Formats: sequence, C-alpha cells, structure tokens
Amino acid sequence: MITEKTPIGEIMKRAYENGILIPAFNVAYLPMIKPIVDTLKRMHTFALVEVARPDVERFGAKSFQSVAEEYHKLADRNFSRLHLDHVPVIDEEGKRVDWKSLIKMGLDLEYDSVMIDGSRLPLEENIAVTREVVELAHRFGRPVEAELGAVFGHESGPLPPYEELFRSGKGFTDPQEAERFVKETKVDWLSIAIGNVHGAISGVAKDKKKVSARLNIKHLKRISQKVGIPLVLHGGSGIKREYVLEAIKNGISKMNIGTSIRQAYERSLSEKPDDIERAQENVALEVERLIKEYEVEGSWERL
Ligand code: 13P
Repeated sequence: MITEKTPIGEIMKRAYENGILIPAFNVAYLPMIKPIVDTLKRMHTFALVEVARPDVERFGAKSFQSVAEEYHKLADRNFSRLHLDHVPVIDEEGKRVDWKSLIKMGLDLEYDSVMIDGSRLPLEENIAVTREVVELAHRFGRPVEAELGAVFGHESGPLPPYEELFRSGKGFTDPQEAERFVKETKVDWLSIAIGNVHGAISGVAKDKKKVSARLNIKHLKRISQKVGIPLVLHGGSGIKREYVLEAIKNGISKMNIGTSIRQAYERSLSEKPDDIERAQENVALEVERLIKEYEVEGSWERL
C-alpha cells in the first residue's frame, strides 16, 4: 500500500507491473486542485496532479510556484504526487524555450517528477537533452518522463483530419527509435504517439468538444516489447474507453487528462459566473466519472 513516503518511481513501477492506470490531471485553474485531491481521497484512487506551461500561460494556473504551494496545502499525499508536465525544448509555436531553468525550478519547488519534451527536435538532440535532464533529476531522486513521436493538437494551426492522421500513422513513435532512446537516455517513463492527440489550447477550438481518438494497440505492443518501461498517453480526454482499457494492459501506466476537466470548470463558470464552488463541484464530478470509466476506483489499495 502506498504511504506518503513511497517514491513515485516505485509507485509507477507497481502500476506498470500490475496493469493499473495512474491518471494525471492537469490543473488549468488553481481552484481545480481542491476538487481533484478531495475526490482522489474520497475514492481511494492514486493519481498525479500536474501542470504544464500552457496551463500557466493560457489559462489560470498562475505559476508553477502557486500550483506547488496550493497542492502542498491541500493534498493528502497518500493519494497523489505532483508532476511537472511538458517542459518543451521547442514550444507549440516553434519558439526555443529555456528548458533547463524550468526543470531546475520544478526540482527546487519539489515537484515529485518532471517531463522534458524534446519531441520537436531531431532524434539525436532529443536524446542529448533528455539524457541531461535525467542526470540532473536523478541527482534529486526524481523520475523523468520524455516524449518521442508527435502528439499533435497543441499547435495553433488546424489539425490534419483525425482519420487521415490515424490511418497514415503520421507522427507515431517508431519502436526501434524508442528502444534506442530509452537505452541511451535512461529515461524512466516514455510518452508515445499511437493515435492520441492533445485537446486544443488556443482559438475557438479550445472550447469545442474534442475529437474522439482511437489507439493503435498493435503499434503500442511493438513499442512496449522494445522498451519495457512505463509508457504515458498524452491527450487522454475523449479517447474511446475500450482503447484505454486495452492500452493499460499493454504498458500504458500514466494518462494525462486536461481538456475534459478544464472544460467542466469553464462551462460551469460561463453558466454561473463567480460561482467557483459550483465550478469545483463540476470538476469533482468529472474526475469521479473518469475514475469510474478507467476502473481506477480503489487503486490506492491495489498499488
Ligand atoms: P487533453 O487536454 O487532450 O486531455 O491532454 C492533456 C495532456 O496530454 C497534457 O499533457
């Protein structure tokens, strides 16, 4: 059973070995933290609470520091850990990012794990940057997630038609490259592309219902056999349930969920502006629905 002291690296390994999902909920607005951590505790479910640059810069997560403070104030750490999501080397607009400072900041702010995203770089550079982050974070005893392949959707331009993307396998993680990447970087968890796409974060698309994505499970199996470490699915909102359940059996141990809980919060506020409590209740309802949908109620007892 998990205690407040169990390292997240160990918890993720148990999840991977036992085919249990650890959902990772993105905090797009600071008041979302409370309903997330309260629901986890009530439902005895273990999850990650996470925040990425777009949550801070485009929505209302304020800063990495505010999220860490609020999280440490409210969370019962038997049921969650705090993760720094998507520190990009090149961001969704094609701009270079000072990733080293952001990773260092995350480690200083006591994020339990961090993600470096070099997926917009050529393979060699992605390997070099990821290796550097792994060396740094491991000195602090924190696991690292990296990404290989292209999980589209955060870019401001229109997404290619989903069916075309799925059929062509455009951007899918290459199993051979994944094997080499994991061996050379010693990364702990790998985010892969197998048909999953991120929900939009800009323009009118960010308020629209997200496409219902599918997953290429055969392709997932090929990757999983090559790498043998916990795999991560980004773009978790709206993926068809049967695909997620099959993916969990085949190496997916963490799934990021942003859009569906952000929209629950925003929709509620647009109906009843100023009623933060009602918006929090709607986030709690959505978190509860997802916990049931992916069969992770009571996962704390099983991990
Ligand atoms: P969605 O917003 O599509 O759920 O994706 C979240 C995510 O992957 C954050 O890293």
